[in-house]
Amino acid sequence: MNICVVGAGYVGLVTGAVFADLGNEVVVVDNVPDRVLMLQAGHLPIYEPGLEEMVARNVSDGRLSFTTDLPGTVRRSVIVFIAVGTPPKTNGQTDLSAVEAVAQEIGRAMDRYIVVVNKSTVPVGTGEFVREVIERHQRQPVPFDVVSNPEFLREGSAIEDTLRPDRIVIGAPTQQVAMTLLELYAPLERPMIITDVPSAEMIKYASNAFLATKISFINAVANICELAGADVTQVMKGMGLDARIGPAFLQAGLGYGGSCFPKDTDSLIHTAATLGYKFDLLRAVVDVNAGRTIHFLSVIERALAPMHTRRIAILGLAFKPNTDDMREAKSIDVITRLIDLGATVCVYDPVAIPNARKVLPTLVEYADSPYAAATGADGVALITEWNEFKFLNLERLRGVMRQPIVFDGRNLWEAERMRRLGFEYYSIGRKPLRRS
Ligand code: UDX
Repeated sequence: MNICVVGAGYVGLVTGAVFADLGNEVVVVDNVPDRVLMLQAGHLPIYEPGLEEMVARNVSDGRLSFTTDLPGTVRRSVIVFIAVGTPPKTNGQTDLSAVEAVAQEIGRAMDRYIVVVNKSTVPVGTGEFVREVIERHQRQPVPFDVVSNPEFLREGSAIEDTLRPDRIVIGAPTQQVAMTLLELYAPLERPMIITDVPSAEMIKYASNAFLATKISFINAVANICELAGADVTQVMKGMGLDARIGPAFLQAGLGYGGSCFPKDTDSLIHTAATLGYKFDLLRAVVDVNAGRTIHFLSVIERALAPMHTRRIAILGLAFKPNTDDMREAKSIDVITRLIDLGATVCVYDPVAIPNARKVLPTLVEYADSPYAAATGADGVALITEWNEFKFLNLERLRGVMRQPIVFDGRNLWEAERMRRLGFEYYSIGRKPLRRS
């Protein structure tokens, strides 16, 4: 099948590469010429395990290419996926200007029937909006359909999530249109659900909001555990074994970040308000999340004040492991506050440092290993639970620090082990271990 994917960002690149890998002819269109040139030269603008190899393989087999020419590509395609960015506005509303611009261009370019698919995360009602925009910009009346096919991929496991999703959601105006998408996805042999367009759009937001709710719920429970002397990691295990609850997304920590949950929760609150419903439950989820770094910083300050005399090592900068993405990363809030308090901050991350340099305060020092970051530190704060930190030589880490104090924002290490190694150890929703 000839497929056009508009938008060479995270979702567009992964979707394009996977469809090409399934044997389709895929052209990924982007309006940033430098980005297209970079992709044509074989360089990816993002870090995602396995993606570079998949792109290279399909480019060399002639099934995947990159261009800035949207009209020409639309005219050669059966299905056009819209996978452009939908960033938040300051009031939480989703900015649909990129989607609108693409819809206008598609409308102007199309000269025969095509299926236009919304892959970008867009508020309920956008399918109808895209249909209207295309119709208004057509040079001649040509029939077309708009489908909602939301993406559930996670950064760091995007290929796996796209090849083996729990479900494929197809929101289509008619059964016949849905068949085109069913045919495209059939080789994946995954469960598919066909809905109307607004329901598919809602499934995406409701799913992300529910996962964010699970995270904020366990984080609120973690706060109570700290006050009550309970251990949230044990509580989480006990809860997670209930098949109705499940263990996923019950990891207490510094809260959720990234390019999806923060903006999608805000967007759903905004959409609900626009429709006349006050989504207080989700508002509380957002508030609990915002409180995570404030709480973590208060623990650090209580243990180390006065901060202007202190040197702090930060382990992990990306918003989660296995990505170099710094969007809404908790490290930014923590580091900015520590610098404001006058502390010296030295940071290490296995892959996110180039991106971090663009967003962190200029006073931050960068190290090329966790041990270098911790050298001479009064405290180590773990922000992102990279696997390599789990297997650190903690004796060596303690040996290079000025004093062995660790603030574990993700409960990565076992408390008992930290105690044996002689650390003063503060974690999330567990009793602090102070040195006697
Ligand atoms: C998410 C959704 O999972 C995906 O379906 C959607 O398409 C895009 O948004 P992503 O943003 O890549 O994907 O990250 P995810 O792995 O879901 O983690 C989101 C955030 O939640 C991270 O900051 C992570 O650290 C945090 N998290 C996750 C927790 O704090 N605790 C958990 O138990 C799980």
